[in-house]
Amino acid sequence: CRWELVGSSGRMVAAVMTAEQVVAALREECATPASRLDEVAAAMADEMAAGLAEEGGSKIKMIVSYVDNLPNGSEEGLFYALDLGGTNFRVLRVQLAGRERRVVKRDTREVSIPPHLMSGNSSELFGFIASVLAKFVEDEGHSAMFSDKQRELGFTFSFPVRQTSITSGTLIKWTKAFSIDDAVGEDVVAELQTAMEKQGLDMRVSALINDTVGTLAAGSYYDEDVVVGVILGTGSNAAYVEKAIAIPKLEGELPKSGNMVINTEWGNFSSSCLPITEFDQALDKESLNPGEQIFEKLISGMYLGEIVRRVLLKISSRCSIFGNVDQIKLNTQFILRTPDISAMHHDQTPDLRIVAEKLADNLKITDTSLETRKMVVEICDIVTRRSARLAAAGIVGILRKIGRGTPGHNRKSVVAIDGGLYEHYTEFRQCLESTLTELLGEDASKSVAVKLANDGSGLGAALIAAAHSQYLN
Ligand code: GLC
Repeated sequence: CRWELVGSSGRMVAAVMTAEQVVAALREECATPASRLDEVAAAMADEMAAGLAEEGGSKIKMIVSYVDNLPNGSEEGLFYALDLGGTNFRVLRVQLAGRERRVVKRDTREVSIPPHLMSGNSSELFGFIASVLAKFVEDEGHSAMFSDKQRELGFTFSFPVRQTSITSGTLIKWTKAFSIDDAVGEDVVAELQTAMEKQGLDMRVSALINDTVGTLAAGSYYDEDVVVGVILGTGSNAAYVEKAIAIPKLEGELPKSGNMVINTEWGNFSSSCLPITEFDQALDKESLNPGEQIFEKLISGMYLGEIVRRVLLKISSRCSIFGNVDQIKLNTQFILRTPDISAMHHDQTPDLRIVAEKLADNLKITDTSLETRKMVVEICDIVTRRSARLAAAGIVGILRKIGRGTPGHNRKSVVAIDGGLYEHYTEFRQCLESTLTELLGEDASKSVAVKLANDGSGLGAALIAAAHSQYLN
């Protein structure tokens, strides 16, 4: 046993072996061999087809976005965007050149949402957002440009919304850390519009989009081979360009372009082929939305740190390798965040000093051996690899659904990805990318590329607002 050095008494060694057994079981249960990931990709593609066939046909909602054309680079003028979806929200002002796919100027403000507003009532949340937006506009001073023109806004609202047009949609349910009952079933554009009016803000919502749709739009603004937009951040989801004829549930006339962007809401995917452990089950049971967003709970940034905390809690209840632990901290949900596990996972110091610091700062675990700290890194590795590999399988599922990334298919397909998990967690990103190659095969993977679309969701909203303002005016 490689932990024997830690203690010489029989009791201690036995206890430490228990910790090793917990980790060994975790490793086994989280295993994602290629054969399993192929099943996940196939199940994802099947569920996608079922969700396109009829409303409610699958747990994956496959939401019609009403975006049937992606930006082409000719968008022009000054547009605003509001990006709401995580613990922060952003307001943006962009000046689009009208040619050469060029953003002339971009100003952003990021504000964190007071936690009580995430579970309060709808008018408080929208009131707060509109007040920040009003301040942002006020700070720009008097601009002659707007004397005779109403400001236009793209609204990125990153929750499942049943869209009824490009400018309206009702909230189906909240996900991530939000839970505001009186907003469910309401038109979120109408709510924002009312809140803006109360602030005396003369602005019109020209487009309502999901962050995945924004990422896809911003990605394709710079690179027309982008066909999939993925968010790997607090939550996780993907949107892609589907052929309109492959969407039986699409009502009315088919769009002229022949295409329609679909917001998959893949976070709600669930399947018996997913590797689910006792930690995931407990996390789900105690979450704000039990039984829902199962895929998201395995892969997204909101949950990875929390899964690791639960594993550490089990170990600490079995043995004393963490010394005298303050159980209150270790028992606190979401106290260990994904940036913390990322920092521990990337710790290159010989004595794993960063791991020691993170354990001490977050969990008040102050007395660990180097072997114990190595074990913590391994837990982060197991949880994060599972996440990255499952995310890659989801992407492969989408590519297979649209016949891309397959042998003999040479057309370039680019996947634009945004979100802190992908942007900042290097081990995660590398694992996702190598898993894509593993699943697609060396040859087919040459036609597929992944790209970071930094702040794609905000820019995408402004671009789509610009595209649709031409029709509205
Ligand atoms: C959650 C939301 C989804 C969003 C994703 C990423 O899964 O339901 O709409 O795109 O988080 O922010």
